[in-house]
Amino acid sequence: MKTKLLLFLALAFLSLNTFAQSTATAEISSDSKLTISRFIYGQFAEHLGHGIYGGFWVDPTLPVEKQDRIRLDVVNALKKIKIPDLRWPGGCFADEYHWRDGIGPREQRPKMVNTNWGNVTDDNSFGTHEFLKLCELIGCEPYIAGNVGSGTVEEMAKWVEYLNLDGESTMARLRAQNGHPAPYKVTFWGVGNESWGCGGDMTPEFYADQYKRYAVYARNYPGARLKKIASGPNGDDYNWTEVLMKNAGWDMWGLSLHYYTVPTGNWGHKGSATSFDEKEYFNTMVSTLKMEELVTKHSAIMDKYDPEKNVALVVDEWGIWTDVEPGTNPGFLYQQNSLRDALLAATNLNIFNNHCDRVKMANLAQTINVLQSLILTDKEKMVLTPTYHVFDLYKVHQDAKFLPVKLISPDYVVDGKKIPAMSVTASQDASGKIHISLVNLDPHQSINFSTVLNGLTWSKVSGQILTSANLTDINTFQQPDKLKLANFSGAKKDGDKLVVALPAKSVVTLELY
Ligand code: AHR
Repeated sequence: MKTKLLLFLALAFLSLNTFAQSTATAEISSDSKLTISRFIYGQFAEHLGHGIYGGFWVDPTLPVEKQDRIRLDVVNALKKIKIPDLRWPGGCFADEYHWRDGIGPREQRPKMVNTNWGNVTDDNSFGTHEFLKLCELIGCEPYIAGNVGSGTVEEMAKWVEYLNLDGESTMARLRAQNGHPAPYKVTFWGVGNESWGCGGDMTPEFYADQYKRYAVYARNYPGARLKKIASGPNGDDYNWTEVLMKNAGWDMWGLSLHYYTVPTGNWGHKGSATSFDEKEYFNTMVSTLKMEELVTKHSAIMDKYDPEKNVALVVDEWGIWTDVEPGTNPGFLYQQNSLRDALLAATNLNIFNNHCDRVKMANLAQTINVLQSLILTDKEKMVLTPTYHVFDLYKVHQDAKFLPVKLISPDYVVDGKKIPAMSVTASQDASGKIHISLVNLDPHQSINFSTVLNGLTWSKVSGQILTSANLTDINTFQQPDKLKLANFSGAKKDGDKLVVALPAKSVVTLELY
């Protein structure tokens, strides 16, 4: 009898867990004049591991479709999700990169050792012209990070002149000799990278002075006004933001912020990309939600010096950083990408969209084969990661009108600690269509979500979903479509409300029209 009762209780608990549901309510309004900048969906590609070499830029003999050595399956995949910009050449690499080594006949270019990333030899075959061709093929804006750490003011000034001067000068002539008479008109310009660390180990006071000095000579040539981006804080270094805004805030388009999500919180043992339990998953999400706090607090400091919000907060490095895949070069930062990463990406994109008054650009680290990639390649094979599919789901928000959402979310609780299970972002595109993206981080409970939409007219709803059986599920070269977008039919109009049955551990984007 006792055994039967125990069995009954266990079964009841199991079915409760499987079919468990919670509720969330929201209010979406049309009351906003803000736009979600498309540059929030930007990407970052460094000379690191197989990001550039073996990722974008492949061996001439590789049997894939290419233009020069740029692989076109990769280009087409990125075009499809409309990546708006690509940041290059680093990262830490940027402050050791000397642009003149990467122009002219390739066989004559000097070789260098990439001391930041694995001490491998970089033959400089991928340089300025190759990068700008890549951007042209993708149809995205280039964002170049100049060398402050080991470079000179003259070197940076000449690079800008080489790229952007439409006139008669030695630099403009050299660019023409190298095959591009017309100026490139690059406008996004990083003045150093992580100047508090690998970019020169500077104090904020010293860097602010350096920034101004470099910025003066990085000239605005006609038709190419630079959007100068200062090297910003490391995570929660609020003093860095304070000093930079106070001393140089009036002279910058943007201030960068770098923050990575480390699953264990321990840089010595970051945690596996593919093997983790629920506790580690929960801690990963706690850590990624810190982005909300960082953006809020850095923005508040910026508000003091720039109440008009002219200076952008540019989150130009973000994403999950795990241990490398076993057996791969530790300096190459190659990691797999699971449903966990997709949920994390969507959570961060919701944060950026919802802070679009200040966050005008963000760059996921790092596009291909490095950290939280959109794409993984192995020789001629290519696979789209779960994170790629999130960017596909979210592309509808690019340059759309921001719709504020007031959300009351249920909690997701593990070991007595809780985080909000849900996050939401909404926008309206130029044709009037409303897009709402919803994330449910809870791996067990689906959420009954209902919302009113004030001042917005619609009659029909359709949607797409990304989910999978396990948080650890990944796409592999053998099974590339284990995680992919599917049609979602769990949303309906109920009176003046939108009602959604949001499955556990899922990302959904709805279109209301
Ligand atoms: O993205 C990898 C590295 O992380 C970058 O080179 C550096 O800027 C950051 O520390």
